Amino acid sequence: MSSEASTAAETETLSTEATVGRSLERAVARSAEIEQQLGTDPSGYRVLTGDRPTGRLHLGHYLGTLSNRVRLQNLGVETMLLVADYQVITDRDDAGPIGSRVRELITDYLAVGIDPERTTIFAHSAVPALNQLMLPFLSLVTDSELRRNPTVKSEYEASGGRPMSGLLLTYPVHQAADILFCKANLVPVGKDQLPHLELTRVIARRFNERFAGGRQIFPAPEALLSSAANVLGMDGEKMSKSRHNTIDLAMTADETAKQLKRAVTDSDRFITYEPASRPEVANLLLIAGEVTGRDPADIAAEIGNGGGGGLKKFVTEAVNEHLAPIRARRRELEASPEVVEEVLARGNARANEIAATTLDQVREAMEMVYSA
Ligand code: TRP
Repeated sequence: MSSEASTAAETETLSTEATVGRSLERAVARSAEIEQQLGTDPSGYRVLTGDRPTGRLHLGHYLGTLSNRVRLQNLGVETMLLVADYQVITDRDDAGPIGSRVRELITDYLAVGIDPERTTIFAHSAVPALNQLMLPFLSLVTDSELRRNPTVKSEYEASGGRPMSGLLLTYPVHQAADILFCKANLVPVGKDQLPHLELTRVIARRFNERFAGGRQIFPAPEALLSSAANVLGMDGEKMSKSRHNTIDLAMTADETAKQLKRAVTDSDRFITYEPASRPEVANLLLIAGEVTGRDPADIAAEIGNGGGGGLKKFVTEAVNEHLAPIRARRRELEASPEVVEEVLARGNARANEIAATTLDQVREAMEMVYSA
């Protein structure tokens, strides 16, 4: 490559990065604006969010997304909470013990304060009309748009060279159906999820243009970027079940203490909050800060010369105290599984009503209504 060509290529990458940076800036600014509106009048918003039922939820989920959902719900924002059971098979051979995992997930939801009177909890597999939206939506995207979708790419890379399934390739379209079946206009996401939301916006616009003569059947949803803390596992890596480094909501106080004993720290006895140079110590201080509502640096100053042992003792007590009422509710719910089933049954019924109304509008827009 001539030096001129390489300079041109570099300029192009740089300008792409600059574009990404600018659109991120815009998304951050817009999220702040939306947050303000939610605080004064949340009535114009419907949130859709959800999880794949792959196991018990942990402190990372709780601090990263669950507590934010409870906060939005308590502000009065109407929330649809999806148990994304079909999405579990995007990158694995079978769904695993899916029944018990779905029940565990809903148990965790209710334990942390999701209120089924205000938040609709439902599952993919129980809402046929939602899944049917996949068909017209798939006609609105090209295979190359899907192949270059960053979330598809990163899931594919994480799957360790397995051939890509058709469901993995098209899962952003399925997510578009999740969001649009209920006309949600707000989706809480992390920065890395912005591209998949962008595809949902594209699908909504294309549907309205191509199939509905410009009528706004679907709103283009917006991202609500979270400012939540991203806590790491006990080994200083991403907190995840497969790494066995989690503190689960379902653990007992003793199991929590045991996990925290294993936590990696460093050899400097004097505890300080320095995320760049002491990431593991800083992570424990951050966890303590989140669950106590205190500044991690103040907690560090209080522990002072207490060393890793003093730090772990502080974090264990703080986490256990914060989770105690959640764990108590969790045990109650475990003792009455019919409550959990009833919540899902009612949520599914409500999601089906909403989905049927939307599918009727879609059929009508596409002139696929053949009899009265
Ligand atoms: N992808 C999410 C997860 O990995 C779950 C999910 C499915 C979702 N559909 C969605 C989240 C639509 C937000 C919007 O757990």
